[in-house]
Amino acid sequence: MKTSSKKFVYLTVFVIITSQLTLSSCFNMKSDTTMKISENFFGRIEEKEIKIFELENPKGSKVSITNFGAIVQSLYVRDREGNFEDIVLGFDSLEDYIQQTSYFGAIAGRYANRIAFAQFTLDGKTYQLSANDGNHHLHGGFKGFDKVIWDARPYLDTTGACLELHYISKDGEEGYPGTLDVYVTYCFTLDDELKIYYQATTDHPTILNLTHHSYFNLSGFTQRNILEHELIIHADSFTPVDSTLIPTGEIVPVKNTVFDFTSPRPIGSRIREVFNKKTGYDNNYVLNTTDSTVHPAAKAYDPESGRILEVFTDQPGLQFYSGNFLDGKIKGKNGKIYQQHDGFCLETQHFPDSPNHPEFPSTVLRPGQIFRSLTIYKFSTDR
Ligand code: GLA
Repeated sequence: MKTSSKKFVYLTVFVIITSQLTLSSCFNMKSDTTMKISENFFGRIEEKEIKIFELENPKGSKVSITNFGAIVQSLYVRDREGNFEDIVLGFDSLEDYIQQTSYFGAIAGRYANRIAFAQFTLDGKTYQLSANDGNHHLHGGFKGFDKVIWDARPYLDTTGACLELHYISKDGEEGYPGTLDVYVTYCFTLDDELKIYYQATTDHPTILNLTHHSYFNLSGFTQRNILEHELIIHADSFTPVDSTLIPTGEIVPVKNTVFDFTSPRPIGSRIREVFNKKTGYDNNYVLNTTDSTVHPAAKAYDPESGRILEVFTDQPGLQFYSGNFLDGKIKGKNGKIYQQHDGFCLETQHFPDSPNHPEFPSTVLRPGQIFRSLTIYKFSTDR
């Protein structure tokens, strides 16, 4: 957990999670696709009602998403025996999401991951961002996209059950230049895919890096930690970091290092050899791809439950984070205490600190350009 993050205090927060208890409206929409969307009250922040939407497919798989932080609150998919269990970490109440500094399930932005010394220079002008991770900027600052209220529009279409989330980030927010108009659309499909479409425009040159920050644990209800999960990352190289997790600028082959996940092996097999800020993986992988089409990025498999997660993206990088900062102090859903390595994140992204590394793919967005990107998390079982 980051200790330097500010705590947010809001006047009133109601803690409502189940549809039976809701104070608000509840509706069901059915269509030919037989996908289902329901909408419930999740809480209140000042005058604003925060909602939680459930997107469900006919198989019975379902995902809950709130318009606070664009957070995925739960994700139920079956194991090989057909048992539906929740495979993401998180909280039962809105209040816990307001207080958290772990980014459970959230969209991170404007700039996901770190910017060294919270500074960058664009077109000759130096911008100072908020420093919320020691001297560095992390995941958009004190009040990043994980802590803002998004406008929500649920709809059904041929892709599945979708939730469009919209947010306007004002010029100067957390130090960033330009007003950014951003859409994040989650679509849950008949094939147990969670598709995340990103779109953004700006009225002034700025920088942008968006990611999704779910902590997965395929055992279901965090019954076991993730060290036995087998992982493949389709990356022959990675960007090493200094002791404060800022990339050194090198791009180094993973071969013959503990970072090599080019063939499947348990996450825990060599994790104690990785000395990061906290022991464990917290690195950006340079995905094996030569173009910007959607391509396989990673695959995780829990041999005990039989659950499989595949990740596809058009982004050049992937942050593999093995839940190193979870320290037994967070009480999550159903009172579960989250320990180190109880979850892992596979965050599709541009490389951390790119604005200070001209040799990395550019993260600059200019007026007139439209940033568009797609990441897919696909769930299945081994039989
Ligand atoms: C990302 C970072 C980690 C950590 C987590 C949130 O994955 O790379 O260092 O900050 O987010 O705790």
